Amino acid sequence: MSGEGIGFGKAIVFNEHFVVYKIPAIVSAIGKYTLAKVEPVNTSGWKLNDNRKATPRYKDDKIDQQKDSINRIMKKMNIDLSKGGIEITLEGNLYCASGIGASAASCVAIARALSQHFQLTFTDDEINDIAYEGEKGYHGTPSGIDNTASTFGGLIWFEKGENNIMDKIELQNPVEVVMGNTGKVADTTKAVAGVRERKEKNPEKYGPIFDRAENIAYLAKNAFQSEDYREIGKLMNENHKLLQQIEVSSRELDFLVKLARDHGALGAKLTGGGLGGNILALTPGRDLQENVATAIEKEGFQTLKTVIGVRRSEEE
Ligand code: MEV
Repeated sequence: MSGEGIGFGKAIVFNEHFVVYKIPAIVSAIGKYTLAKVEPVNTSGWKLNDNRKATPRYKDDKIDQQKDSINRIMKKMNIDLSKGGIEITLEGNLYCASGIGASAASCVAIARALSQHFQLTFTDDEINDIAYEGEKGYHGTPSGIDNTASTFGGLIWFEKGENNIMDKIELQNPVEVVMGNTGKVADTTKAVAGVRERKEKNPEKYGPIFDRAENIAYLAKNAFQSEDYREIGKLMNENHKLLQQIEVSSRELDFLVKLARDHGALGAKLTGGGLGGNILALTPGRDLQENVATAIEKEGFQTLKTVIGVRRSEEE
């Protein structure tokens, strides 16, 4: 047998970091994916061909985390490779960088490819649980938002809990966005740990910030339901301010956020773990999307033009 599977990249539109503390968040899959292929080999154990395109240093920096993640996936799936091994190949059109869900996309893709190869017929919910286990290799204590977007696709309202809440937000029309890559690889585990430390030290400062993040999630959900992009943009700008206050932004992220807004983006914020990685700018319409992307590229940064709010079948 051989197996194949994909996992989508993602962009967190509201409340990364806050989501770790059970504040609701909104995330979208993006129209780029990682593809995993599994083939049998004569040796025991697993080996990996990582052919994904990536920001310089991304793959080297994450190599130990990746090994831990794949071992966790094998264990969770009860796969025994002592008698016959496998080769995993990673490819696809998702360019790996921080903030774009590259780790989650690879966990989901690998889980799906293994499920097919070993004829395990796991459901999407089971794949999501396995990918969550794999994400622990990269994040330590992930909220589960990234693997959920990567597994199910679409625009999702997500709340971490005893049982995570996941509701699809249906848009009539997908909306254009630009992601801008600082080129800096960041460590999500460190970013999350930093927030925890500061929050514990300074609860008077962090309490109101977290309360406002929660309000923003509900306001954003309403704005998405009425497709009020001006309002969503304003809320994204405010969300970025909160992320600055909890100290997960960086000079490069703030620079790209300002650049996007100066060129007409309705809103812009860092997306994902921060301290590097990507920004997300809301740019309804192809012309605005092009203007913002061109401005970012002129400054020497890479962009990704995509849409959010696409239903899964359209994404594949
Ligand atoms: C990382 O993409 C998102 C964070 O909120 C961490 C997590 O939710 O696991 C920073």
